[in-house]
Amino acid sequence: MALSQKALALACSICALVSLGTAASVPDHFDFIIIGGGTTGLAVANRLSEVPDITVAVIEAGKDEGKNPNVTSVEGFGGSTGVNTQIDWLYATTEQTHAGGRVLDYHAGKAWGGTSTINGMTYIRAEDAQIDAWERVGNDGWNWENLWPYHLKSEHFETPTQAQLAAGASYEDVYHGRNGPLSVAYQYGLHNGSFASLVNETWQQFGIPLNEDVNGGSLRGFFVWPQTLDREANVREHAARAYYYPVQDRSNLVLLRGHVDRIRWAEGNATKALAEGVEYTAPDGSVKALYADKEVILSAGSVRSPAILELSGVGNPEILESLNIPVKVPLPAVGENAIDQPNTFMTYTSNSTFTGMVPYVTYMTASDILGSETDAVAGEIAAQLKPWAQQVAEESNNALSASAIEHLYQVQHDLIFTQDVPCVEILTTAMGGNVGSAFFALLPFSRGRVHISSANPAAYPALDPNYLMAYWDLVLQRTIAQTVAKFWETAPVNSVAGARAQPPVSDLPANATDEEWDAWVASSFTANHHLLGTAAMLPEELGGVVDPTLVVYGTENVRVIDASVLPAQISGHLTSILYAVAERAADIIKENLGKQRDT
Ligand SMILES: Cc1cc2nc3c(=O)[nH]c(=O)nc-3n(C[C@H](O)[C@H](O)[C@H](O)COP(=O)(O)OP(=O)(O)OC[C@H]3O[C@@H](n4cnc5c(N)ncnc54)[C@H](O)[C@@H]3O)c2cc1C
Ligand SMILES: *[C@@H]1O[C@H](CO)[C@@H](O)[C@H](O)[C@H]1NC(C)=O
Ligand SMILES: *[C@@H]1O[C@H](CO)[C@@H](O)[C@H](O)[C@H]1NC(C)=O
Ligand SMILES: *[C@@H]1O[C@H](CO)[C@@H](O)[C@H](O)[C@H]1NC(C)=O
Ligand SMILES: *[C@@H]1O[C@H](CO)[C@@H](O)[C@H](O)[C@H]1NC(C)=O
Ligand SMILES: *[C@@H]1O[C@H](CO)[C@@H](O)[C@H](O)[C@H]1NC(C)=O
Ligand SMILES: *[C@@H]1O[C@H](CO)[C@@H](O)[C@H](O)[C@H]1NC(C)=O
Repeated sequence: MALSQKALALACSICALVSLGTAASVPDHFDFIIIGGGTTGLAVANRLSEVPDITVAVIEAGKDEGKNPNVTSVEGFGGSTGVNTQIDWLYATTEQTHAGGRVLDYHAGKAWGGTSTINGMTYIRAEDAQIDAWERVGNDGWNWENLWPYHLKSEHFETPTQAQLAAGASYEDVYHGRNGPLSVAYQYGLHNGSFASLVNETWQQFGIPLNEDVNGGSLRGFFVWPQTLDREANVREHAARAYYYPVQDRSNLVLLRGHVDRIRWAEGNATKALAEGVEYTAPDGSVKALYADKEVILSAGSVRSPAILELSGVGNPEILESLNIPVKVPLPAVGENAIDQPNTFMTYTSNSTFTGMVPYVTYMTASDILGSETDAVAGEIAAQLKPWAQQVAEESNNALSASAIEHLYQVQHDLIFTQDVPCVEILTTAMGGNVGSAFFALLPFSRGRVHISSANPAAYPALDPNYLMAYWDLVLQRTIAQTVAKFWETAPVNSVAGARAQPPVSDLPANATDEEWDAWVASSFTANHHLLGTAAMLPEELGGVVDPTLVVYGTENVRVIDASVLPAQISGHLTSILYAVAERAADIIKENLGKQRDT
C-alpha cells in the first residue's frame, strides 16, 4: 500500500472513531511507534508527523495533565507540587552502599509530557567541550556545532522585560531561538529585591564573575536563569504543551494510553533483529499488539527504556536467562553506565522575607573550588581512574570492560582538569524567611546501573545510581558544602543570612572536621534526577547500546531517543539538551526515510 493511501486510511479510521466516540477502532499498524509520550517522545512525535504520509503512534502510560494545577503552576523550586502525586512514578533506588544503605526517592513524570510536567523548569544547556567529547569517543556527527541549530530550532525565547532585566535577568540575543515550539522565559514572579546583587557581589569575592548568558556553551560564572514556561499565560511549558497540543489534530498522529510491556519481534533469521511492533497493556487491563511498519522508538526515560529492552530480550544474557527471558540480542551494556548526581541542600534563617522565584546559579571549575590544590588533586584522581574502572567492571559482572571505562574516565578527567569544564553547580535561592543553596558535583566518577529484577513488565526495575562509589565524588560534594558555608558568612550576602537551619549547627558544628562533613553529606543528599547513560550512545566496545543514529546495536529498526542515550553526564540541566537531541534525531530519521525512497 502506498504511504499516502495508508495515511488516508488512517485519517478515515480516525474520522470514524471520532464520530463513533470510541477508542476501539484505532488502526493497529503505524509506521512509527514511540514508547513514552514524555519530554523527548513528544518532540520526536511532532517532528516525524510533520511528514504527512507517515503515521505515528505514541503509547503513554500517563494521561493529559494539562489542566492539573500542580502541572500548570510556575511556583516551586526544583520540582512541581505534582512530585509525589499520582503523576509521579515515584521510583526508589536500591540501598545505596556508599550512603549508609539509604533508599532514595527517584521522581519521574507519568503524564503527557513525562518528567517535564514535574521538573524544576530550569533551562540551562551543556558546556560546548563536553558535547564535542561525544564525537571524540566515537559518535560521528555529535558535536556542539551540529547540535547548536537544534537548540535554536526548539526554542521560543521571550525577551526579558525591563523590570526583569533590572531584577537580574540577562541574555545574549544570538544564543536564543525565537520561532521554536518551546517557550523559555523569565516569569513575572521573578524576585526583584536586592538579593540578586548581594549574591552576585558575594560570588565576585570568590573570584566568580557574572556570566551574561550561560546558554551559549560556556557555563562558568553567576547567572539568573530562565525557565521553560509561558510568561504571558504564566504556566509551565511542558513537552505536551510545546510539542503535542499544537499538532494533536494531525490525522497521521495518534496518542494512545497504555503501558508498553515489550517489543514484538518479526519471525525470521535475519542477522539483525527486526521489530514488528509492541505489546502493551491498555487501561482496562487487556493486552494488545500494535504494529510498526518502520520503527519502534523507545522514549520511556532513563529508568524505563533499558528495562523495556531487557523485557524484550535485548540485554545481558546472564540477567535475561536468570529471569527466563529468551535472548534476542545479547547486549550486556544495556542498563549499565548509569550516572546521576548527589543533590545537597543547606538553608539559613534570614531577617528578610522573600517573595517570588529566585533562580540564581553559579558554575565553578575545578580550579575555582580547589585553588592551589587543583594540580595535586588532578594527579590523585588520575591515579584512581584504573582502580575505579576495575570496580565498575566488576560491579557490572564484566558487562563493561575496565579498559573501556578507564578510557571514558580519561576523557572526563581531561574535560575537568584540562578543558576547565565546570564540575560544580550551586543554586542560590530564598523563600519566605529562609535563604539557602542546593548544590551538586556535576561530573561524578561513580557509575551505577538499572536492571529489571522481574519478568513482570509492571514491576519497577532495580535502580542503582551507586552514588558516591568513587570517594572523590564525596570529597567534592563536601568541598562544595564547605564553600557554601563560607559563602553565607561572606559580605555582602551575610547581611541577610542568620543561623544555619539545615544542617543545624547542633548536628554539624562550624568547626566540624572533613570526616563529620562527609558523614553529613552521605546521610542527607537526595537524587538530582539527572539520570542518564543507561542505553548509551557509544561504540559497542566502549559499552554502547545505540549507534550514532540512535539505533540499538543488533537491531534493524529499534531506536532509543531519551536521556538514556546521553553518553556522559553534562554540566547543564537535561531538558534543553534532550529537546535538541530529539530534534536532531527526528532529522536523522527523516533523512533515512528519504534514502529509502530514493532506492
Ligand atoms: C523533580 C525533578 C526536577 C527536575 N528539574 C529539572 C530542571 O529544572 N531542568 C531540567 O532541564 N531537567 C530537570 N529534571 C530532569 C528532566 O526533567 C528529565 O531528565 C527529562 O524530563 C527526562 O526526559 P525523558 O524524555 O528522558 O523522559 P520522561 O520525560 O520521563 O518521559 C518518559 C515517558 O515515558 C512514559 N513511560 C515510561 N514507561 C512506559 C511504558 N512502559 N509504557 C508507556 N509509557 C511509559 C512515562 O510516563 C513518561 O511520560 C528534573 C527531574 C525531576 C524528576
Ligand atoms: C496536587 O498536589 C497536591 C499535593 O502536592 C495533592 O494533594 C493534589 O491531589 C494534587 N492535585 C491533583 C489534581 O493531582
Ligand atoms: C516586584 O515584585 C513585586 C512582587 O512580585 C511586585 O508587586 C512589584 O510590582 C515588582 N516591582 C517591579 C518594579 O517589577
Ligand atoms: C553583577 O555584577 C556585575 C559586575 O559588577 C554587574 O555588571 C551586573 O550587572 C551584576 N548583576 C546583578 C544581577 O547584580
Ligand atoms: C531459521 O532458523 C531455524 C533454526 O536455525 C530453522 O529451523 C529455520 O528453517 C530457519 N528459517 C528460515 C526462513 O530460514
Ligand atoms: C538584617 O540584618 C542586617 C545586618 O544586621 C541589617 O543590615 C539589615 O538591615 C537587616 N534587615 C532587616 C530587614 O531587618
Ligand atoms: C569544636 O568546638 C567545640 C566547642 O567549641 C569543641 O568542644 C570541639 O572539640 C571542637 N571540635 C573540633 C574538631 O575542633
